[in-house]
Parts: sequence; structure tokens; C-alpha cells
Amino acid sequence: MLLDSFGRIHDYLRISLTDHCNFRCSYCMPVEEMEWMPQSKLMSIDEILSLAETFVSLGVKKIRLTGGEPLVRKEFPEILERLSDFPVELTLTTNGVLIHKHIDALKKAGVRSVNVSLDTLNREKFHKLTRRDQFDLVWENIQLLLKEGFRVKVNAVALHGMIEDEFCDFIQVTEKLPLHVRFIEFMPFAGNHWQSKEVVTASQMLEIAKEKFDVSKLEDKKHDTAKKYQVPGFAGTFAFITTMSAHFCGDCNRIRLTADGKIKNCLFGKEELDLLGALRKGEPIESLIRLSISQKHQALGGQFSADYEKADPDKIENRSMINIGG
Ligand code: GTP
Ligand code: 5AD
Ligand code: SF4
Repeated sequence: MLLDSFGRIHDYLRISLTDHCNFRCSYCMPVEEMEWMPQSKLMSIDEILSLAETFVSLGVKKIRLTGGEPLVRKEFPEILERLSDFPVELTLTTNGVLIHKHIDALKKAGVRSVNVSLDTLNREKFHKLTRRDQFDLVWENIQLLLKEGFRVKVNAVALHGMIEDEFCDFIQVTEKLPLHVRFIEFMPFAGNHWQSKEVVTASQMLEIAKEKFDVSKLEDKKHDTAKKYQVPGFAGTFAFITTMSAHFCGDCNRIRLTADGKIKNCLFGKEELDLLGALRKGEPIESLIRLSISQKHQALGGQFSADYEKADPDKIENRSMINIGG
């Protein structure tokens, strides 16, 4: 069992398969030129499997594959298939654009739930934001996932100047479709030029929702990142991921493994330990994992406080989101 010094059990591992992505969203990657990880620094399939096995032996029960975009990694189907031998809930977060190519592999590996990032329902805005004209394909793939019986969560980053106009349209979509839309407060990462005034908080969004819809609060589960709501009678739900205005670190159970094999004990943690380096040298892994978890800060990587308006993005030492894996 992986217990930190605040008594939190860590049993949910997020593995980034690559820092590459087929989209170019500015809130996720540095606006300046991105330096991609060289192939030699990436974990190979065997290395991913070996590290995952150690985590599972230490009590990990859920593994989420992330990126960059996990589906751009050529070996994705093989990695998925081999991970599906472990006694874990296997899942993924994707931009959705390659889902149709992997739907059978996902079904075969027993994946039940997929999180798809989609920040706008408007084709032109989508093109501008992602710098790719792929809205239709992503939307079709969301429908495909639903048709094939997957539980689908849609992650929409609440971008100031855009979400205010689209928020109600997203909720409207949940009337007929059993989608679970999560609005994510904009978070600071290296190179994304975060400013506190760009954050649209959950309570601001809820105000907008209440003007148009009758809204009920749903019960949240332990370890949930999202606070859930529903318009009574609608097929789907909506929720807020309130990292900035009301963090949920108190019952955090997450560990991250970056594509270059570093363990991060928190999304905002600056301390990383090199598991891949140790594995390649034949050194023990378990003690490094335990050390990382024991050093975890109480909240937000110890880098800023719950009063997000005081956060100074220049003082936050971290990677870019594309490099962490979300
Ligand atoms: P579920 O297993 O469905 O709860 O997934 P998830 O919400 O953990 O994963 P997903 O990859 O869909 O992430 C959605 C949003 O939540 C992203 O913006 C993530 O950065 C954010 N998020 C995920 N994990 C953490 C975390 O450990 N801490 C914080 N603060 N935010 C997180
Ligand atoms: N703030 C909030 N969420 C973000 N994501 C990427 N960058 C940010 C950010 N700066 C989201 C993506 C994806 C998830 C893994 O993280 O939209 O859904
Ligand atoms: Fe866990 Fe860090 Fe996210 Fe808080 S910010 S929920 S401690 S990963």
C-alpha cells in the first residue's frame, strides 16, 4: 500500500505514453517552440509494463493512460493489451480524434470509460483553438463511443471569453446524450501564460446555468475530481473540476508517471524521481516510489495556496501540461 504522510492511500496511477499530440491547444502546451522528448528518453513498452507491474504490486487499482495524446503512440494497442492483464481498471484520456481506429482494441482490453477533451461545440472555434479542423471527427467519435456502450466524460477547459457563451450549449447536449461534461477551471502550467483573471470559477459557471436550467446537485464519490450536477430528466450530467477555487487534495489518491519515466506525486509537484533511470541501471524501484509518495505535499504540490488569485505563475516550477499528461 502506498500511504503518504497525510494518511492518503495512493492507488490510481496515470501513465503518460508520449508528450506528442496531434493538436496544438495553447493552454496545454508552451506558446513558444515545444521541445519534444527524444525517443531514447521515452519508456519502451517493456519498461512501461515493468514499472506498472511494480505499482500494481504496491496496491494500484486503476491506471489511466494519458499523453500528450496517448493514441498517437504507435504501440498504443499493444501497450493497452498488455496492461489489460493486470487486475486494474484501465482507462484513458484522449482528444478523441483517433478513437475510431482503436475502438476494438479498447473493447477487447475491457476499457469501460473514456474521457474525451473537447472545449467547444463550434467547428470554427475548435479549429482556432486546436489549430486542427477536426471537430466533426471528434464529435463522431464521441457518438461512436456512446454507441459502443462506453461511459463518456467530456473535459471542457473553462476558457474565459469562450465558455460563457458555450456553457449552456454543453449542458443542453446532455438532455438527449448520456454524456458527462466536466468544466475544468483553467490551471497554471509552464508556458501557458496563466493569469488568475482568466479563471472562470465553478460558482460563476453555476450562476449562468441557473439562469437557464433547473439544476440539482448529485452525490460525489470519494476521490472524485469533479463536483456533479444534473438538470432533472436529462440523460447526462455536468460537473466542475475546481482545482483553483476549491481544491480536492484532501483525498487525493493519484500518482503520475511521465512518458520519460519520472514519478510525480502531484499534478503540481516540482519534485520528480527518475524511475526509468533506476530501472535501466537495474536499481530498486519500490523504494523510490515510496520515497516519492512520502514526500507528497498536503495540497497543490506546495506551490500555491487555495487562494488562487494570489498565485504567481512565474514562481510555480513545473512542466507544461502536455509534458505531464493531465
Ligand atoms: P476520472 O477517473 O474520470 O475521475 O478522471 P480524472 O478526472 O482524474 O481524469 P482526466 O484525465 O479526465 O482529467 C480531467 C481534469 O482533471 C484534467 O484537467 C486534469 O488535469 C484534472 N485532474 C486530473 N487529475 C488531477 C489531479 O490529480 N489533481 C488535480 N488538481 N487535477 C487533476
Ligand atoms: N487547465 C485545465 N485543464 C487543462 N487541461 C490541459 N491543460 C489544462 C489547463 N491549463 C486538460 C485537458 C484534458 C485534461 C487531461 O487536462 O483539456 O482534458
Ligand atoms: Fe492530488 Fe496534487 Fe491534484 Fe491536489 S493538486 S488533487 S494533491 S495531484
